[in-house]
Amino acid sequence: MSHDIFSNIELAGHTLINRMAMAPMTRNRAPDNIATAMMAEYYAQRAGAGLIITEGAQVSEQAVGYPATPGIYTQAQLKGWKQVTDAVHEKGSRIFAQLWHCGRISHPDYHAGELPVAPSAIAAAGDAFTYEGLKPFVTPRALEAEEIAGIVDEYRHAAAFAIEAGFDGVEIHAANGYLIDQFIRDGSNRRTDRHGGSLENRTRLLMEIVAAVGGEIDHDKVGVRISPINAFNDMSDSDPQATFNHVAVSLSGLGLAYLHVVEVSMTGEASFDFDVGQLRERFDGIYIANGAYDQPRAQQTISSGDADMIAFGIPFLANPDLPERFRLNAELNEADQATFYGGDVHGYTDYPTLEA
Ligand code: PHB
Repeated sequence: MSHDIFSNIELAGHTLINRMAMAPMTRNRAPDNIATAMMAEYYAQRAGAGLIITEGAQVSEQAVGYPATPGIYTQAQLKGWKQVTDAVHEKGSRIFAQLWHCGRISHPDYHAGELPVAPSAIAAAGDAFTYEGLKPFVTPRALEAEEIAGIVDEYRHAAAFAIEAGFDGVEIHAANGYLIDQFIRDGSNRRTDRHGGSLENRTRLLMEIVAAVGGEIDHDKVGVRISPINAFNDMSDSDPQATFNHVAVSLSGLGLAYLHVVEVSMTGEASFDFDVGQLRERFDGIYIANGAYDQPRAQQTISSGDADMIAFGIPFLANPDLPERFRLNAELNEADQATFYGGDVHGYTDYPTLEA
């Protein structure tokens, strides 16, 4: 049976109103790492999406890597998020929290001078965003083998808090050069223990987190996001197709909510061939595609069955009523880059709807 982006889909025990997801986007408007009423309004404005995936929410203090980004590990943070989930549910949509650990893409400024952690002591090229502006990435401290179980447990704990805060599920952020991705790809993982080397070993942290989080909140409430060809945050892998085919196979058969794939590189640097169709074939659940989709390509991709849902980032940022605009073939608002990261309502909750 052929679907279109406006047809329903069952996910995590709910019937989503359409096959459009709002992609996770960091917006740096959470002072003290706590979600606010303004954030609740922003997400509620976008509840025309079948599924909203929040911006990354840190699983611990060690996970923090950007200014004014929300966490999901304290009671105050849980309360902050409750406003968001209530506002989105009131508008009839569903919302997953993205669980985030920045790993080496952090800075000692966030950790009282201590080094950020990573699979291996390899610095990323580039600069960290700190409260005092850009500072070069430092060489991180390689995690001790004995510390890894603690990180897995932080994800489990954050997932339990997410459910308590009213989320319909969680997305494990294994993309874009953050901690889990740093383990998966061999450009950043040179470990010689059971978390490095073979594909199975490099994928182990992800699988341990999936098992712990799934055990805590049920696997059907757990999605995973990967970005096989994204070079963002100085990422590389010697054989991306083999690496991520292995990830897709490993995540199959567990009854997960979905696999969410960033199909592009945010740096424009991925010139090698990568066939996302091989991930689609290997993963047995809902496949969410993301990366510069417009309406025609989204429709085509859904109706051909190449994906089950499409996640839109910047178009949702700039168009609170994106599904309605698609339905009417209406023009889209243009996104204002200058207000993406940080600030107030401007460029956040003041993008006009068609009606306005
Ligand atoms: C960013 O803040 O630029 C950012 C955060 C999380 C991502 C990608 C980009 O996954």
